[in-house]
Amino acid sequence: MSDRETWTSRVGFILAAVGSAVGLGNIWSFPFQTASNGGAAFLVVYLCAVFLLGFPVMLGEFVIGRRSERNAVEAFRSLGFGEWSVVGGLAVVSSFVTLAFYSVVGGWVLSYIVGSVTGGYLGDAGAYFGAVSAGPIAVGAHAAFMALTIGIVALGVTDGIERATKLMVPAIFVLMGGLAVWVSTFEGAAAGYAYYLSPDVGVIADNIAGIVPPAVGQAFFTLSLGFGVMIAYSSYLGRDDSLPADGSAIVVVNTLVALIAGFVVFPVLFAIEGSVPDSGGAGTAFTALAGAFSQIPGGQLIGLGFFVVLLFAALSSSISLLEVPTAFVADRTGYDRTATAVGLGAFVALAGVPTALDTGILGWYNDIVFELLLPLAVLSLSLFVGWVADDQLAVELNLGSSFGSGFSTVWLWWIRIVIPVAIGGTLLLGIQSLLVKAGILAAPIVLG
Ligand code: PFF
Repeated sequence: MSDRETWTSRVGFILAAVGSAVGLGNIWSFPFQTASNGGAAFLVVYLCAVFLLGFPVMLGEFVIGRRSERNAVEAFRSLGFGEWSVVGGLAVVSSFVTLAFYSVVGGWVLSYIVGSVTGGYLGDAGAYFGAVSAGPIAVGAHAAFMALTIGIVALGVTDGIERATKLMVPAIFVLMGGLAVWVSTFEGAAAGYAYYLSPDVGVIADNIAGIVPPAVGQAFFTLSLGFGVMIAYSSYLGRDDSLPADGSAIVVVNTLVALIAGFVVFPVLFAIEGSVPDSGGAGTAFTALAGAFSQIPGGQLIGLGFFVVLLFAALSSSISLLEVPTAFVADRTGYDRTATAVGLGAFVALAGVPTALDTGILGWYNDIVFELLLPLAVLSLSLFVGWVADDQLAVELNLGSSFGSGFSTVWLWWIRIVIPVAIGGTLLLGIQSLLVKAGILAAPIVLG
């Protein structure tokens, strides 16, 4: 593997990882999940999940990737635990399923960029969403979004992924920051901030089962954990980088983008609509925001800025999702990267067609990822790191790190006990919720 690429710089790696983390999850789902799950109460639980559960698991993926210098599947064999490759296989499957519907939403974003230019959604936001979210337009836009994703991945790690994310991640910050400042001048913005930032502890206590699993799922999804992305990305990393320092930077920056997205979305919703929509369904973000943009002077321009940010965020994540299977197949077979990316990308694009035809099917893909594949992958990863792999992973964490060996000891015990308990619980609640939705269980048994 001597011809394996590496990041050209530490910043390149951090930006690529931030690019993967910052995505539709931060800007599209986070504010709307927060809105429909009690506002600030959800925010508190989410932040705890990000720092207490997400960060340690991210370090787990980093040590596996950097130690093995392999993709998500082969990493396990290379560390001497070939039978655990199935966990990497699960990650590849999860990234496939996720990309299949993620790119459909990416296609919606493309349609909303067009709509911002033509003014298409200004008259009737609901009708516009109906027209672009399912059917031939959605299929075409999904294909266009996948073509962009494939193009970047095919260029390679440094020329494609690193270069694209170096451009897109700073642009996301500047544009989102600008939008947040602009909307702060709206009359009525204060009510939005209040809903967003004043937690009501009673809401959490009354609805633990309703708030905790989505907050935990969202925390892992937003950090791109459980899909092998961070294993793949850290496998291109040098030994002198501090993994805890890089990981902290990635988690903090990713959280900031989600928080800033809230500072854009809540003032807009409260100033224009007077409240938040009570359902956080797939289309809410698009219809509620586009509806609000239609009523603001200059709204078309704000809309354009917002949807361009969303496109950059979605692309810098979708390329990481395609990188996981591409790295696996190219490493394994020695096939040319470009051909591999095109072939696999075309396959994912086909798998996404049903979700582009029917938002109900899209909801199913989404639920299967959030409630089953993701918690299962994170649970098995943490069991592997905590209980199966030997000391080599804790040793790897200390390389290049100034956090000291006390840090890696606490980390290891945290991964052994706290993470499996928390994720095991989330997985059970997730399976229960899938069974209820499928009509197999009439009502929740646990924490119903
Ligand atoms: N983190 C991305 C987001 O928040 O939109 C989504 C994602 C990308 C999840 C890559 C998982 C992944 F492997």
